[in-house]
Amino acid sequence: MRTLQVELGERSYPIYIGAGILDSIGELCAKHGISKKSPHLIVTDDKVGPHYLDSVVSRLKSEGYHVLTHVVPSGESSKSLDVYEQVMTTAIQAKLDRSSAVFALGGGVVGDLAGFVAATYMRGITFVQIPTTILAHDSSVGGKVAVNHPLAKNMIGAFHQPVMVLYDVDTLKSLPAREVSSGLAEMVKHGLILDKDFAYWCCENGHKLLALDAETLIHGLERGCAIKADVVSKDEREGGLRAILNLGHTIGHAIEAVGGYGRFLHGEAIAIGMAGSAMLAERLGRDESLYGETIRMLKAVNLPVQLPQDVSIDQIMDAMQHDKKFTEGQMVFIVPEAIGSVSIVKDVPVEAVRSVVEQLKGEG
Ligand SMILES: NC(=O)c1ccc[n+]([C@@H]2O[C@H](COP(=O)([O-])OP(=O)(O)OC[C@H]3O[C@@H](n4cnc5c(N)ncnc54)[C@H](O)[C@@H]3O)[C@@H](O)[C@H]2O)c1
Ligand SMILES: [Zn+2]
Repeated sequence: MRTLQVELGERSYPIYIGAGILDSIGELCAKHGISKKSPHLIVTDDKVGPHYLDSVVSRLKSEGYHVLTHVVPSGESSKSLDVYEQVMTTAIQAKLDRSSAVFALGGGVVGDLAGFVAATYMRGITFVQIPTTILAHDSSVGGKVAVNHPLAKNMIGAFHQPVMVLYDVDTLKSLPAREVSSGLAEMVKHGLILDKDFAYWCCENGHKLLALDAETLIHGLERGCAIKADVVSKDEREGGLRAILNLGHTIGHAIEAVGGYGRFLHGEAIAIGMAGSAMLAERLGRDESLYGETIRMLKAVNLPVQLPQDVSIDQIMDAMQHDKKFTEGQMVFIVPEAIGSVSIVKDVPVEAVRSVVEQLKGEG
């Protein structure tokens, strides 16, 4: 088992990564001072639950913990105020108290939802993350928790750090292949923004990552989490630097929105967005090899790098306007400077972005 510490002063916490480490959940909870007197709530979804919920519950019970469960439907639609209220109802009925903990057993959806419950139940109780997707190596670090409003994603949320993250790579074996690639998009992103060697490592080891080779995954997740943790510990509340984590996300969020949050997975959308950012970088005079190298890395983990023909460029541009990053014909963009380095450019001409989106459809 590897341990990676996220340094956030008194809110610092460890990420435990390894194969089979869920077997030790009881001891780890005891180590972190989780009460054996108070009830705890495990939140999961209906695709993850059937695989892992029983074993997590029985491990905790055998260690003397009192646990209840709440299973939500799988998918982004569970990040809603309705579902939030239902989980809150379970928490209140179960008489969770100030010493109780909420456990998120699942991907980013369950993590964000359960985290927001933990952040707000009695003004904040203990939160434990048990990520079960590759994407969640990103979402489980940094403490951003939220539900969606029908008008905008992640609009209702908080910063609430977990007391520990328990990342058992064995749980990734049941992930559908598309979800594996989607999660690897964030791993590649972490290399592209801050660590050239890691970006190339992901590319060279793409086939092993896709095959869920345990050693390779553990290394990739550990390095990915470490890069994110490093950024977050320097800028916990997104005053500036943390924005670099949004590489590919301005175009990516627009692609997700235009696809109705179902057609494209998050990682697929940001992969196309990262390809677009690399094109934009070249247009802004950065190194000409950037685009070719970036798409090579994305393709190595089976990610798309082009927009399908039926996607409307006008709709993508409109959706980006909702991202509120436009002012007077210019927008803020995370622009690659080289593989492993990016900058925040505040005056990117909207026209340049439009022509990149056209090029992503093969029309540029
Ligand atoms: N808080 C943050 O900093 C942050 C960062 C990035 C993304 N996010 C959020 O994360 C969410 C996306 O996360 P995600 O991609 O993990 O989505 P997800 O939680 O919806 O999981 C993807 C799919 O895989 C299923 N699944 C999860 N684990 C599984 C397993 N081990 N075996 C089989 N099936 C499994 C889920 O039921 C779901 O259908 C988005 O809502 C996004 O906004 C948050
Ligand atoms: Zn993302």
